[in-house]
Amino acid sequence: MDKSRTSLPSEVAPRINRRELITSAATLLASPMLASPMHTAHGASRRRARQLTARPGLADITNNKTPETRIWGYDGQVPGPVLRVKQDEELAITLVNELEQPTSIHWHGIRITNNMDGSPLVQPAVEPGDAFEYRFSSPDAGTYWYHTHTRGFEQLTRGLYGVLIVDETTQPAEKFDDEIILAIDDWLLGKDGQIETESIGSMMNMSHGGRTGNWASVNGINKPSMPVQRGARLRARLVNTSNARILDLTFDDLKAWVIALDGQPVAPAQLDAPLTLAPGQRADLAIDIPVSGEDAYVIGIDLGQSTYTAATLQPTSSPALPGRDSAPAPLPPNTQQSHRLDLARSHHVELIMEGGAMGSMREATLGGVAMPIRKLVREGKAWAFNGLADSDIQAPLFDVKQGTTVSIDIHNLTAWPHAMHTHGHHFRHTHTDGVEVAVPGAWRDTHLMERGERHSLSLVADNPGDWLVHCHMVDHAASGMSGWFRVRP
Ligand code: C2O
Ligand code: CU
Repeated sequence: MDKSRTSLPSEVAPRINRRELITSAATLLASPMLASPMHTAHGASRRRARQLTARPGLADITNNKTPETRIWGYDGQVPGPVLRVKQDEELAITLVNELEQPTSIHWHGIRITNNMDGSPLVQPAVEPGDAFEYRFSSPDAGTYWYHTHTRGFEQLTRGLYGVLIVDETTQPAEKFDDEIILAIDDWLLGKDGQIETESIGSMMNMSHGGRTGNWASVNGINKPSMPVQRGARLRARLVNTSNARILDLTFDDLKAWVIALDGQPVAPAQLDAPLTLAPGQRADLAIDIPVSGEDAYVIGIDLGQSTYTAATLQPTSSPALPGRDSAPAPLPPNTQQSHRLDLARSHHVELIMEGGAMGSMREATLGGVAMPIRKLVREGKAWAFNGLADSDIQAPLFDVKQGTTVSIDIHNLTAWPHAMHTHGHHFRHTHTDGVEVAVPGAWRDTHLMERGERHSLSLVADNPGDWLVHCHMVDHAASGMSGWFRVRP
C-alpha cells in the first residue's frame, strides 16, 4: 500500500473530541435545497435556479479545537450547498466570483453539454467580481459533485466543492428509510487549525503523491455523529473530495451493498472488504442499521495499521423499524446503461503516463520544446502523457466522430497511483495488459490506476465537444497529467 493511503496522523488535536454533532447530519439533510421550481416559457420542462457565490468563509473543521478555519467555499461554506435536481430537469446556477482570483465550476460526472462543462477548454474562468450562469440538465440520475476547475491545486484545497444529487425520474423499487451524504475530505492543517498554505502548489506535492493531509472531514465536520434509526435501510452517498488521498472505507460490522458507482447503478453487491474511493470517485451504498445492537457504528478510513474514524452512525432511541431480510433491489438503469461498446471496431489510443519522483522519465515536451526533467521541474511540470507535459494545450489525444467506441489503453509507468478522469463521458475498464477482461468494469468517470498497471478504458464518444482527460489528483493535473480529446458531431 502506498504511503498516501496509510498515514493520517492527527497533528491538530491528539485526542478526538467526541462532542455529539447530532445536528450535522440533520443539517445536511435539511440544508437549503434549490429554490422552488420555476416554469420555463414552454411550461413543460421545469427549471431550478439559484446562485452560488465563491467566497472566503470560516468553517469549524476542528470541532472547536482551534479558531475556525479560513476556507474558500461556495456561499462561504464547505462543502457548498447540496444541489439537488431531477433527472432531465434544467438547473440554472449563477456562479458569482467573490474571490481574488478567477474561478469556474465543473460538474463532475455529469454528461453535460460541452459549453457548460466548466473546463478551461470551453470556458475562460470567471474573473473576480464577474458572474456566469451555468445551465444544464443531467440525462443520468445519481451522486455527483461540483468543484472548481481553476487552480484546483489551490482552490479545491481551500474548499471549493459541493455535492450534486440527481434524483431518479423512475422511483427506485427499493424504498430507503433515509439518506445520508458523506463528502469526505482530507485537510493539511497547522496547529492553529488553518490550512497549511506554504506547500500549496509545491513541486514536492506535485512530483510525489500529491497533497495529503493530517485531518479528515465529512461534510466539513471532523468525525460527525449522524443520527440513524434502528432497523433502517439507508441510502448512503459517498464522495471522495480529497486532493490526493485514496480512501479505503470500512463500515464496522454493518451490512452494506454497493448500488451505484460514480452515479451509475450497478447490480447490488455486498461489501466484504474496504470500499476504495480514489479522489473524485463516488459510491452509493445501501446500509442496514440492525434492529438491535451497538450504540454507534464507525465509518472508518483504513490506514493499514489503524482505522481513522470518518463518521459515526448513532442509532437513536426512537422505536425501531422492522429491518429487512433481503438484499436491496437494483436502482433503475440510467441512460448511460444503454450505451453499447463496439470493441471489435473500437478506435485504439495509447496513453503512456510517465514522470514523477522515482520515475524513469528523462525528458518531455513542453510548449513544443523537448526538455530534460530538471528544466521541466523549473517550469512546474513533473509528469507527461505520451511525452507531452502540457498536453492540455497540444494536440488532442484523439479526435473522433460522434458514436465511435474509443479504447484508451493507459499504461501507468510512474511509481504512483493515479485517478484518471474523463469529462462528459463514462467508460468501462475493458482490458488489462491488452487482454479483454471477462466482465468489463462498471460505467465510471474516474478510474484508479496503481503503479505499473495497464488498463484500457472504453467509452462511446457520443458527446460532441472538447473534453479533458486528467488525473484527479489535482497537483498531478496541474503539473502535466492532463490531456484532451475531441468528439465531432
Ligand atoms: Cu472532477 Cu476535470 O474534474
Ligand atoms: Cu496522478
